[in-house]
Amino acid sequence: MKDLLDAARQAYEQAYAPYSNFQVGAALRAPSGRIYVGANVENAAYPIGNCAEPSAIAAMIAAGERRITECAVVAAGERLCTPCGGCRQRLAEFAGPDLKIHLGSPDGYRQTLTLGELLPYAFDLEEGDETPMEAKELHDRAADVVRARIPDAAPRVGLILGSGLGGFADGIEAGTAIDYADLPGFPQPSVEGHGGRLVLGTVGGLKVACLQGRVHLYEGVPVQAILPMIRTLRAIGCETLIVTNAAGSLREDVGPGSLVLIEDHINMLGQNPLTGAVRDRFLDLSEAYDKGYRERVQLVAAREQIELATGVYLATPGPSFETPAEIRAFKALGADLVGMSTVPEVIAARHAGLDVIGFSIVTNLAAGMSGNALSHNETLSEAGAAGAKLSRLLTAFCKELA
Ligand code: HPA
Repeated sequence: MKDLLDAARQAYEQAYAPYSNFQVGAALRAPSGRIYVGANVENAAYPIGNCAEPSAIAAMIAAGERRITECAVVAAGERLCTPCGGCRQRLAEFAGPDLKIHLGSPDGYRQTLTLGELLPYAFDLEEGDETPMEAKELHDRAADVVRARIPDAAPRVGLILGSGLGGFADGIEAGTAIDYADLPGFPQPSVEGHGGRLVLGTVGGLKVACLQGRVHLYEGVPVQAILPMIRTLRAIGCETLIVTNAAGSLREDVGPGSLVLIEDHINMLGQNPLTGAVRDRFLDLSEAYDKGYRERVQLVAAREQIELATGVYLATPGPSFETPAEIRAFKALGADLVGMSTVPEVIAARHAGLDVIGFSIVTNLAAGMSGNALSHNETLSEAGAAGAKLSRLLTAFCKELA
């Protein structure tokens, strides 16, 4: 470790940081044993500049190596200087979560953390702070908040209420709401039609936890932002997650106002919430939407005389609606529905060990199928009407599960 810290300190001394006066040096060891160094470089457009870590990575790449086995970062000042959020991701490109990152000052060694400990956190830690691994994870802290506020909550089923279904939460008996703002790690939705509250109570005798409002990738949040919220459901006792959304239909016979039970999905988001330093990330999704539950839901729908189609949901990042050519391509891929949500939550839920059931409310025929232009307002108003039907089905299904 000492040779790596010495190399980082020498790079620190060469750093070019005339605007911030905050010099940083980094050193990386590669499998050959060679050490590559980098220093931060600022310019008149500061704060745009190069961090020390990617400078060192660039030197390693130019020398033909592709893996980092150990890392050191040196900077002066009272605060512990850890790699920034972006640099953590860059290191993760060439190293696993076990990568040791030795942090030092010009006077010597201070602390060692692993990349896995740092990655969930965007910026730095105070020296002497608990490391993130020692600290409670966000979902455990959020679960503590729930238990403190509603000691007898113990929900069995979590629900994510998509566009048009927000009203379902109003029907929850003895419901208590907690704003996402009070729950550590819960990302705040910014889209009209989504509230941002966790509502706990009873539906048809079943204890539920409803996520009223969700974030979408098109709001600019990282896909991993969904993880704490889903893990919190598990931590407070949920075994099952019911996801709902508004979607466009790719089938003429499943028009606006239809309800569809999701059988499977196609992830066209180009992103996955398990990317990065997540344990057990190679998750089996061959039955993402629980077959037994799907059969039970269909029986309930038949009993309640609610028409329920089945289909495959394809997620796109949005926020623009699709082109007709994309819709034709998605049809050829086997999609029945298209939307901009749900898939990250489902992957996160399966990873957390929750069984998943999914429903779409069809708000429109997809682009190019009806001759109408698509709009978010139309999505919201159509979702409201069919939402009442889905609320009835969900209430009946909760009774069945209770
Ligand atoms: N495309 C994508 N997302 C949607 C649509 C659509 O047609 N309708 C409701 N959400």
